[in-house]
Amino acid sequence: MSEELLEEIKQNMEEEAKEFKILAIETSCDETAAAVVADGRKVLSNVISSQIDLHTLYGGVVPEIASRKHIENINYVIKKALADADCTLDDIDAIGVTYGPGLVGALLVGVAEAKAIAFAKDIPLIGVHHIEGHICANFVEDPNLEPPFVCLVVSGGHTHLVVVEDYGQYKILGRTRDDAAGEAFDKVARAIGLGYPGGPKIDKASQEGDPNAFEFPRAKVTDNIYDFSFSGMKSAVLNELNALEMKGESYNQADVAASFQAAVVDTLVERAMLALEKTGSKKFALAGGVASNTLLRKRMKEECEKRGVKFYCPAPILCTDNAVMIGSAAYYEYKNGITHGLDLNAIPNLKLGERYE
Ligand code: KG4
Ligand code: ZN
Repeated sequence: MSEELLEEIKQNMEEEAKEFKILAIETSCDETAAAVVADGRKVLSNVISSQIDLHTLYGGVVPEIASRKHIENINYVIKKALADADCTLDDIDAIGVTYGPGLVGALLVGVAEAKAIAFAKDIPLIGVHHIEGHICANFVEDPNLEPPFVCLVVSGGHTHLVVVEDYGQYKILGRTRDDAAGEAFDKVARAIGLGYPGGPKIDKASQEGDPNAFEFPRAKVTDNIYDFSFSGMKSAVLNELNALEMKGESYNQADVAASFQAAVVDTLVERAMLALEKTGSKKFALAGGVASNTLLRKRMKEECEKRGVKFYCPAPILCTDNAVMIGSAAYYEYKNGITHGLDLNAIPNLKLGERYE
């Protein structure tokens, strides 16, 4: 073999062995996040600057404040993500960014930043669907997870039962008709005086409460058994509190929290198990902020194990909004040949996939 040929093979192998590094950016709501992810599954850095303390003052996310804070934070967050990954922009192979769904002003900050870097460094730009990101957190958590599988995405803005047919290929089996699961947690928490953000506070309070103290309804959507409805459940809690107040009776905050949480979790578990029956899938994954709920994780795991289904769930830090999940989703989109031009825009109501039949 000639010296030249040997050199060429060596170079090719080095090229193949080189990790494909994506700098990912997430600014769809109240977290300014950046991460460097190698080959879609390896976390080189994960920086999240949360604005929760600021929004807590107002009892929820204030969109204008979120956008302004993203602008103030984004450059620092990216610098730290690069430094933590021990690299510079010259080592980055592509930029991934959430371009929807979310708050338009907040999304625009991430999208503008991503476009600027992609243009300056002349590297590919990959726009990512936020929900797809949540799903892909599972690929980071478990390097052996491969599609197809069923995924329940439960976040502050979304409740979706998704069939992940392949990388980047999603079919929607069920979705919420009104409030998202996380939104219901946040509203009930506010009503019982636990404050914002409600999910983690209800989770904690429930551990001291009786889940059978109140019988809240487990609403069914009759024309699609895989769909969800949480606004009735939330109203049932508010009506119960009103009725008690009218009678001059007090209530135990932890009991209300535990009973409400049990109702939401029952509903989520029931629909998820129906989805597994319909698809015949032997793999089930949880995703989204509400997936960090202690009871939900425990119940889903138990029910999956009973049915011989393998259960996947990201660590809590990868359930709530982060950029690692966006880096993973961007990698698989890129492998499918998807990149975006510098005309990429924020799409606040971006849709994910077709309906599963
Ligand atoms: O995925 P995420 O960080 O943001 C969105 O994309 O919406 O989800 C935030 C939601 C909030 O509604 C929050 O209350 C809920 O996730 N959440 C929880 C828990 N931790 C966060 N809900 C229930 N139990 C938790 N431990
Ligand atoms: Zn999210």
